[in-house]
Parts: sequence; structure tokens; C-alpha cells
Amino acid sequence: MQIVRSSEELALARANLSEKLALVPTMGALHAGHMALIEEARRRADKVAATIFVNPAQFGPNEDFGRYPRQESQDAAMLEQAGCDLLWLPSLDDIYPGGFSTKVSVSGVSDRWEGEARPGHFDGVATVVAKLLLSVRPDVALFGEKDFQQLAVVRRMVTDLAIPVEIVGIPTVREVDGLALSSRNAYLSEEERQRAAALPGALTYARDAIRNGDDLRLVLDTARKMLIDAGFSRIDYFAFVDAATLQPLGSRGGEMRLIAAASIGATRLIDNLAV
Ligand code: PAJ
Repeated sequence: MQIVRSSEELALARANLSEKLALVPTMGALHAGHMALIEEARRRADKVAATIFVNPAQFGPNEDFGRYPRQESQDAAMLEQAGCDLLWLPSLDDIYPGGFSTKVSVSGVSDRWEGEARPGHFDGVATVVAKLLLSVRPDVALFGEKDFQQLAVVRRMVTDLAIPVEIVGIPTVREVDGLALSSRNAYLSEEERQRAAALPGALTYARDAIRNGDDLRLVLDTARKMLIDAGFSRIDYFAFVDAATLQPLGSRGGEMRLIAAASIGATRLIDNLAV
């Protein structure tokens, strides 16, 4: 695996790749969820590139940018082991050189849920993903369904700006008790970690109840109560939405998704499930 840092090094490495290229953008602290993206990337392309960049623009002022886990050499070893061909580790200056003034803002699909709970978050995501896609110029780029709204925002941006890349979504990789793998799970105490399984539990309950034809409002209220009873201190949202537009659904129909964000102690977790 070739490791490059500066934009110049990346451009040189990219020029030497003529085969079909897949890109997996990450913020590092890699786990089996990220590795599933790399594995699918290998199936879909001849060469696989990954990026690790903890993007300050997508963190709010009171969020965890400073303490976000950073483990570059361990990540590089995992990527190499998984068959990644090229790793780009840009510096802040490579992504946001002096004078950088552009912001990519995707309205509509960004507005609610994570966009509401984390103002500016999706502008930061869209801007950095646009920059990564335009710098690496992959044929295909892979994103996890774990961050379901992010995937929808990226799809919308790529369509709107006619960025020539195929966007592929990958199902969420989970622990045995259902908790979605996340770099932020490392923040949970042992007790919080056990209680956290209530999040996928409430989503699974709601999915089954909705499929069963139960009253929607009642189902969502019951699911929220399950989280509170399990020790979640705060629920930002637990919603039933259209999978493409992320607009709330009042009745069943089309592609449906349950999405949720809730905090346990100081740790905020997000998850979602297809209905
Ligand atoms: P990060 O949180 O590192 O996630 C990188 C990619 O891995 C994302 O597409 C995310 O959805 C996917 N992923 C995370 N956990 C997963 C799981 N349990 N199963 C499957 N896929 C999972 O998302 C970001 O970084 C950033 O916002 C980024 C897109 C890199 C832009 O900065």
C-alpha cells in the first residue's frame, strides 16, 4: 500500500493509476464497519484508495474534534491488511489551504435530524467529500448506511454537481447485540455500552411493529420510551422517514427508514433501519 500525504504526492500517485478506482473516505479509528467498505470496494474496482482526515469543518464548537480517536499507524496496518492500494493522509492545509472560502451546502435533505442537531455539520461533510472526490477522482466511492442521512446528502450533492462518480451505500456492520460499530463507541463506559444496545433494540421493535400495521405514533412513542427506560438521557430524534428525501412519513409507503439519535451519558449515538 502506498501512503501519500501532500496533494502533490496524491496527484502523482493518481496519475499512475489507470484502472478502475474505488475510494473509501474515513476519519480513521477504523473498525470492521470501515473494513466492510474496503472489502466491497475491492469487489467493485481494480484499485482501492482510502483517506483518513478528521475534518474540523464537520464538528461543532462543543463537539469532540479534539478528542476524536487518532491512531494512524494502526489504521494504516488495517488498511494494508485489507488490500487497500493507496492511503491519502492529507494535512489540514492540503484540504483547506490559506484563502479557502468555498462551502458546499446541500439544502432539503440536510435540513432536519443531524442537520438540525448539529448546525453546519453537513456543510462540512459535503465540502470535504466534494474536495476528496475531486482530488482523488475515483470511479466509485463507498459510504456506510450507518450514517444514513450523510449518504443521502452525498448522493444529492454528486447528482446536483454532476460529479462523475458512482456512490455505493453499504449495510451497517453491528456487534452481536446489535449495536452499530462506531469510532465513538470507545467513549462508552462498560455499563453504558451494555445499555446502548437498546438503540438498535428500539429500532428493531419499531420496524417490526410498523410492518405489523401498528399505529405509527404509538410505535414511535413506545420506542422512545424504551430508550429512556434503558437509561438514554436524551433523544434528539426517533423518526420514520422517506429513505431518499429524509422527510417524515405520516403513513406507510415507498422506501421507508427509521432513523434515531440519542445520548447515553455524554456520548451521542446514531442508528437507522430499513422498514
Ligand atoms: P467515518 O465516521 O470515519 O466513517 C467513514 C465511513 O464508514 C462512512 O461512510 C460511514 O458511514 C462508514 N461506517 C461507519 N461505521 C460503519 C458501520 N458500523 N457499518 C458500515 N459502515 C460504517 O463518515 C465519516 O467518517 C465522515 O463524515 C466522512 C464521510 C469521511 C467525511 O469527513
